[in-house]
Amino acid sequence: MTSSSSVIHHPACVLVTGGAGFIGSNFLLRMVRRYPNVQFVNLDKLTYAGNLMNLTAIEDAHNYQFVQGDVADAALVQELFATRGFTTVVHFAAESHVDRSILAPLAFVQTNTMGTVTLLEAARHAWADRDDDPARYRFFHVSTDEVFGSLGDDGFFSEETAYDPRSPYSASKAASDHFVRAYAHTYGLPVSISNCSNNYGPYQFPEKLIPLVIMNALHERPVPIYGKGDNIRDWLHVHDHCDAIDVILRRGTPGETYLVGGNNERSNLDLVTMLLDQVDEVLGRPAGTSQQLITFVKDRPGHDFRYAIDATHLRDALGWQPQYSPEDGLRATVNWYLDNQPWLDAVNDASYRAYYEQQYAAR
Ligand SMILES: NC(=O)c1ccc[n+]([C@@H]2O[C@H](COP(=O)([O-])OP(=O)(O)OC[C@H]3O[C@@H](n4cnc5c(N)ncnc54)[C@H](O)[C@@H]3O)[C@@H](O)[C@H]2O)c1
Repeated sequence: MTSSSSVIHHPACVLVTGGAGFIGSNFLLRMVRRYPNVQFVNLDKLTYAGNLMNLTAIEDAHNYQFVQGDVADAALVQELFATRGFTTVVHFAAESHVDRSILAPLAFVQTNTMGTVTLLEAARHAWADRDDDPARYRFFHVSTDEVFGSLGDDGFFSEETAYDPRSPYSASKAASDHFVRAYAHTYGLPVSISNCSNNYGPYQFPEKLIPLVIMNALHERPVPIYGKGDNIRDWLHVHDHCDAIDVILRRGTPGETYLVGGNNERSNLDLVTMLLDQVDEVLGRPAGTSQQLITFVKDRPGHDFRYAIDATHLRDALGWQPQYSPEDGLRATVNWYLDNQPWLDAVNDASYRAYYEQQYAAR
């Protein structure tokens, strides 16, 4: 194995996929400004989850460009590799909502699995000279802790945990992780994989728990909680995740996997209760007002009980640790959504409302 000091990667031109989504847009907003000498090309299909409004702060930056397209479109992806001279891929694009994967799994296989393989194929051909300098290129695959399945009351996921995906979403992500490792093993593609816990922060589409709770509380609509609300997730601020990706991309050992987590476990009910109290506080409502909106709904089929990450490897190897305390991060997030109601209203369009009504209101 080459020593990590000799494989520090210096991105020159980065293909960011899914950069108009939640994590991708936060990543671009940080990195385009942090690295003015690096070029960033954002390839995004602009599904319901992608929104160029997220990126207005950098849309005119000299080192940023947007291309609308599908990561599974082999001709487009090959043409981009041929004409842009990418040194680096940071692959976020995905269908990302577990509930939608239960309703319509094929879109998840198409984007998450086929799309990833399409990008890997383009990279392995475009980077044919990679053996000359193993530090020159890097394919960074952004994945999830959901590939490891569900924990009981104890224990943590680590880099050694066996895969056990249990939803169509996590199965499609697990398949993509396996393909990324297969390309490293078979073709020597320089890859990095991160598996991260649940993210929260600005620009998250309001079908996901935290913005959904804030939006519904704001509009005094029912706040749905699956089952009894005792499922546990480990929450990490999206800026901390983006900074972990940046560190792993540059200094991570090629071929290695890093688990990223917030050491911030909460049951859904505890989290929702805390968020509703904060909404009441910010909006000046009497304490406890929004708690009355909590509505327990039929549990998600196959709902994983608990996810929790042991991020020791990332901390020890690369010195990363979260900068946000859970309390500060969640409070800042509530404030962000309440300060950005036009964003919430704009993404909460007719198609989403129809979906929301189908998912929750009928239960
Ligand atoms: N959100 C989380 O808590 C979390 C945690 C760990 C890992 N991840 C992973 O991080 C990545 C980003 O997640 P997110 O929450 O930002 O997702 P998101 O749903 O908010 O955004 C996905 C983006 O990908 C784009 N996209 C979808 N299909 C595409 C296609 N075929 N071609 C090009 N673009 C396409 C969408 O338009 C959107 O902009 C995903 O790979 C997800 O599995 C997410």
